Amino acid sequence: MCARLNQEVTWTVYIVVSWTKLLPSQNGDMVAAWVPAPLSSNAWAYPMRVLQVVGNTTARSDPAGFVVQWLAELARRHRPGRGAPPPRRSPAWDGESFAAMHPNEAIPFNRPTSVASERAYMSDAIAYGRISGDGAFTRKCHDFFERTLGVPKALLTTSCTHALEMSALLLGVEPGDEVIVPSFTFVATANAFALRGARIVFADIRPDTLNIDERALELLVTPRTRALVAVHYAGVGCEMDSIVATAQKHGIAVVEDNAHGLFGRYHGRYLGTFGAFATQSFHETKNVTCGEGGALLINDRGYIEQAEIVREKGTNRSRYFRGEIDKYTWVALGSSYLPSDMLAAFLWAQLEAYESIQQRREALWNHYAEGLADWAKQVGVGLPYVPPYCEQPYHMFYLMLPDVQSRQALISHLKNAGITATFHYIPLHSSEMGQRLGGRTGDCPVAESVSERLLRLPFYTGMTPSDQDRVIESVSAFRPTRLGVTDC
Ligand SMILES: Cc1ncc(COP(=O)(O)O)c(C=O)c1O
Repeated sequence: MCARLNQEVTWTVYIVVSWTKLLPSQNGDMVAAWVPAPLSSNAWAYPMRVLQVVGNTTARSDPAGFVVQWLAELARRHRPGRGAPPPRRSPAWDGESFAAMHPNEAIPFNRPTSVASERAYMSDAIAYGRISGDGAFTRKCHDFFERTLGVPKALLTTSCTHALEMSALLLGVEPGDEVIVPSFTFVATANAFALRGARIVFADIRPDTLNIDERALELLVTPRTRALVAVHYAGVGCEMDSIVATAQKHGIAVVEDNAHGLFGRYHGRYLGTFGAFATQSFHETKNVTCGEGGALLINDRGYIEQAEIVREKGTNRSRYFRGEIDKYTWVALGSSYLPSDMLAAFLWAQLEAYESIQQRREALWNHYAEGLADWAKQVGVGLPYVPPYCEQPYHMFYLMLPDVQSRQALISHLKNAGITATFHYIPLHSSEMGQRLGGRTGDCPVAESVSERLLRLPFYTGMTPSDQDRVIESVSAFRPTRLGVTDC
């Protein structure tokens, strides 16, 4: 048995769940009925209904998981009305059913991805009796990311923001350190490091992919630079070869803010596998979601144990649960970054369906690109640029208008047609907080220009072809106030 503990163990357990017994029916007759095992007497004299439970687990690496998975499987199959495991259902896109019921509804900017199995898995999480962090579904999600992306360790977090905060804690960022971030990003990218007292150094972006401009990095690095954050905007990979080379040359840690980029690739390699850490988001706007959630992907194995501590309030509780120590205690700075297993159950439902989610989004993205190509060319509007060596995960679809007036006019034009389109980031260096940190308008001209001209179209997994055609039709009827010549 010991020799096999490190291997995946396939196990089968037979459990008697009910026996036939004579019970009075409504008209007083005695009829044979299946009754739950504990209620029957002289049970062995009657036919038995036997439950066969089969599973696969690695017992040594995760003995608690072995037991929990076994019990969970038992609970799932023993639920009333569920003698056999549920067949894998094809995803029922809630957006689609919503649109069918409300044909003249406004088209929102986003509807969260929804597949058929979230509710069932959340019920299962309740049935297992363990809804705090790191339960059976959390482990399934960790395992999924480790297997699918090939990262040494994945840890679910309560948000991408929190995964970024964990990165800052793990790198030991402190006052006096500098961290380079693109100006065109979400506040969390910078805020996580500012919270630790770092000076934020804002980098401009490339006009084509809208990613951090790797050509400017050498000028921004100083002896105090501690980390560099690469945000893969719209899931299109940053120039990671150059970024990693610059970071290695100066001994700087790379963190990938991969909030948009799950399943994207750069030169065939998954985004999220280049930095010491990568952070994922499962916010409701993302391709796969659990409402609010995230993950920290750890590529540098040296940080794994510390990451578990930071995520568990600064304690070595994870080691305790694995049976490696006999009590747990406060060992470092940390916080509560682990999500409930209820959220992990929701997320797991979507991860199981990720291939069909991605296929669907790819079809939608291509339909926009094809449907708007001629119009965009005629009026000088830019469409998203994806370098040939990048595979994008179809996270968003944007237009680059010639100027801010045209962008605002198109937002209003679509609004009048019942369609919600929206701008994106305000450059961080020119934001209120960014200016307090020393940023000045004019520091990152490409980010400033892009921020004024970019418009995101409604784009969500459950979007119906007819809704998408409505958007394409409305956009195509619009003429910018001045015809543009754009960078992208
Ligand atoms: C680039 C980027 N990083 C981080 C985040 C924060 O993600 P979360 O809402 O999961 O904290 C976002 C939000 O969408 C984002 O766009």
